[in-house]
Amino acid sequence: MDGKQTFFSTWKRVLIPLAILVIIAVIPGFNAAMFGIVIPYVAGLVFLIGFISRIMGWAKSPVPFRIPATCGQQKTLPWIKNDHLDNPHTFWGVVGRMFLEVFFFRTLFRNTQAGLKDGPKLVYGGNKLLWAAGLAFHWSFLIILIRHVRFFTEPVPGFVNFVQGFDSLFQIGVPVLCLTDIVIVAALSYLFIRRVIFAQVRFISLPADYFALGLLLAIVLTGIVMKYWIKVDNVGAKELALGLITLSPGLPKDPIGFMFYFHLFLVCTLLLYFPFSKLMHMGGIFLSPTRNMANNNRMRRHVNPWNPEVKLHTYEEYEEEFHDVMSAAGMPLEKTYAEAKPSETE
Ligand code: HEM
Repeated sequence: MDGKQTFFSTWKRVLIPLAILVIIAVIPGFNAAMFGIVIPYVAGLVFLIGFISRIMGWAKSPVPFRIPATCGQQKTLPWIKNDHLDNPHTFWGVVGRMFLEVFFFRTLFRNTQAGLKDGPKLVYGGNKLLWAAGLAFHWSFLIILIRHVRFFTEPVPGFVNFVQGFDSLFQIGVPVLCLTDIVIVAALSYLFIRRVIFAQVRFISLPADYFALGLLLAIVLTGIVMKYWIKVDNVGAKELALGLITLSPGLPKDPIGFMFYFHLFLVCTLLLYFPFSKLMHMGGIFLSPTRNMANNNRMRRHVNPWNPEVKLHTYEEYEEEFHDVMSAAGMPLEKTYAEAKPSETE
């Protein structure tokens, strides 16, 4: 398959599902109540139930062993310096590690990749662009969601106005340009394009990887289009959103505009898809035993809850049992032969 063919077959994976969504959204006899009330409620319900049940499923999974993934010195003897963040042994150490992971993607920052350069030469280095694009996308997404709170609240909380003001700090254009609108498009485009142009990433990419990015990009682009070009009735949109959130749904008297319903429909698609997709990493990260456990294996004895009756075999008993072979192997022992086996030396 040549490069051009690969490019189109990759695009097909995104364009076909998106085209189906567009066709559904513009079917003749378009019904505002269907797209403005029924589908949003169904999507919201599926999202809530799906999200909670997946989290409950993970929370109920047994974790009989302490298995934190670590890459720093474990807490051990007092004179050996341990790493509080990379190998936390306390609750607060875990909180600190999680905080840096969730808000700054610390492990992705240290992620490395191997590649072949002319020569051929094997080069091994960091991949900071992936980290920067990932972080830029997630932060922009969060800020855009916070800004959207203005549609669901009356009066609008102060922090929402603050975030809105901060995001449009440079006061460029009318309506004022929000920086996150540019950043999120750039970040999502990079995350998408890298899956298309880098052979190794393309090889491990699944249709689901392209679909999630394509859907997010479509939501963002429809939002931007209706803010700057195809205007919609924002007052009507707020009336509809307030009705939905207060469980007293109703359509505004004047039409809001097709672009709004299209934007909302894409958001509903995301809500329906979310609980069954890799996007669940948003909740899953907090339940990952390789991240949320303190590594205190050398400080505390952890009894396997599946087998609490297991017979204890202390180090003293172990040394007593294997005293001779350990001694023959020149291993340091805590007791002399006479101390370990007094009955045999009397
Ligand atoms: C995943 C959720 C959503 C994302 C990522 C998203 C994204 C965006 C973006 C990027 C814009 C461009 C302008 C801006 O940044 O404010 C926008 C505008 C807009 N969005 Fe959303 N949106 C989402 C959900 C919703 C929902 C649930 C509603 C329903 C009320 C909505 C209604 C609107 C409206 C009315 C605009 C036009 C704003 C204006 O003209 O200032 N969005 N959206």
